[in-house]
Amino acid sequence: MKVSKTISSLKSVISQWRLGGQRIGFIPTMGHLHAGHIELVNQARSHCDKVVVSIFVNPLQFNEASDFEAYPKTLDMDQKKLISAKTDLLFLPDNEMMYTNGRVATTKVCVPEITQELEGEHRPGHFDGVSTVVNKLFNLVQPCMAFFGEKDYQQLLLVRKMVDDLNMPVKIQAVPTHREEDGLAMSSRNSRLLEDQRKLAPELYKVLQQLVQKLEIPDISLQEVELAAEKLLKNQGFEVEYVSVRDAYNLQPVTAQTTVKVVLAAARLGKVRLIDNIVVR
Ligand code: PAF
Repeated sequence: MKVSKTISSLKSVISQWRLGGQRIGFIPTMGHLHAGHIELVNQARSHCDKVVVSIFVNPLQFNEASDFEAYPKTLDMDQKKLISAKTDLLFLPDNEMMYTNGRVATTKVCVPEITQELEGEHRPGHFDGVSTVVNKLFNLVQPCMAFFGEKDYQQLLLVRKMVDDLNMPVKIQAVPTHREEDGLAMSSRNSRLLEDQRKLAPELYKVLQQLVQKLEIPDISLQEVELAAEKLLKNQGFEVEYVSVRDAYNLQPVTAQTTVKVVLAAARLGKVRLIDNIVVR
């Protein structure tokens, strides 16, 4: 696996590949890689000739300084996992390289339609940080395809919308959420859960599954099922930020025109914020 720590070394490898007509698949990450990330690499390998992964803990998308400081960094382990998964190139930019003014990007990319509610409401500025960094990374790596997990569902729709609105020449491929055996969605933040919190964490997915079952009841009130799920989670010790049933294509409230729904939730266990979702296909 090649490792590029500068933009110029990245560009020289990428331009050779592109000249050779090779299709580049890209997975942007913030490191502390788990099996879900490796599944994205496997998917990229099956669709493309070359696989590029970036690891960059993007300060611009953290709305809480403590979350940024505590974000786990495990570069050696990450590199081993990426080598085993046959990654071709690891791009490791640093803050100075990505943002010449330190934390403040002079030009930001903002996708207003999809980012006002849910995560956007609870994490002000987060999505502008995501769209800005993903845009920059796409410009640097110039992939044909980029792979994103469905676990960050709103992020996935945001990236799709940005690519569509800005006519970016990259295909976005969604990959289903990877789960632990007990159902907990894999996340780099899970390793910060204390023992008791880790035991409780899969309840988030279980409660969402129960909610999805209730959606089959004719004329059921969405507000009622959302509130019931919230109450269940609170009683178990979660600090709930939202449980919401939305249109899966645009995250707007469900209407008579909605064909596919998605149930989304965010809840905290101590210092760790968990998100999860189920698309009701
Ligand atoms: O999902 C993530 O890990 C990040 O939001 C991303 C897409 C790598 C941008 O920093």
